[in-house]
Amino acid sequence: MQNITDMIAEGKGKRLYATENPDEAVVYYRDETFAFHGLKRGRIIGKGEINNLICEYMFTMLTEKGVPNHFIRRIDNRCSLVKRVEIIPVTVKVRNIVAGSLAKRIGYPDGTRLKNTVLEYCLKDPELEDPLVNLTHITAMSLATPEEIKRMEELSLRVNEIVSGCMAEINIELIDFKLEFGRYKGQILLADEVSPDTCRFWDARTHEPLDIDRFRHDLGDVEEAYREVLHRLTGNVLKNTEEE
Ligand code: TMP
Repeated sequence: MQNITDMIAEGKGKRLYATENPDEAVVYYRDETFAFHGLKRGRIIGKGEINNLICEYMFTMLTEKGVPNHFIRRIDNRCSLVKRVEIIPVTVKVRNIVAGSLAKRIGYPDGTRLKNTVLEYCLKDPELEDPLVNLTHITAMSLATPEEIKRMEELSLRVNEIVSGCMAEINIELIDFKLEFGRYKGQILLADEVSPDTCRFWDARTHEPLDIDRFRHDLGDVEEAYREVLHRLTGNVLKNTEEE
């Protein structure tokens, strides 16, 4: 076990702890769930364990395919060791099919295929509800340099190709997702998570969501959907244990 020191950050589905090694941190995945900028809260029993395993799978695959990321190794059921990056305060949303806030903003029905991949940037500021920003905002506020933005774009599109392909093999459509990046020893690394908390995954046959939208919109079978994604990806049949 790593020697954990202080808690560095607490997010919607995770806690981040410092370790005695200043270059590393421990992510603890929680069952706690937030939606609509914290207005709706709840628990998805076993989510922490499932997301820890899904992220291990995703980051390992992305490393093998040349996408530099923060993942080092899984430590136990709920914790993974990661590189301690300086998070860039801009999130990237990648969209293949219209859903969620894009459907509201442009008035297209959910499920409309986009003619090209859409990239959106949001300011990482929960008090402002993570507003949409454009590239000139990002450079005007010195949130990231043009070179960093270019690299984030390049990596985001590559993640889209890799994860869309991998999910298609298990009959899941990657509708859209959110990524975070960090600076680490002069490099830009993919950070945060790639899981049903941050991606829209639809069953390719039924178009049923297999992600946090089940919780957001009270669709039921939330735990089952998370377990289903893990099972299709890894064959792992997990008996979830509740977070202490
Ligand atoms: P949106 O349609 O609500 O803007 O979401 C787009 C994608 O971003 C979707 O896959 C869910 C993900 N997302 C997060 O991971 N965290 C968030 O706080 C929000 C609002 C969206």
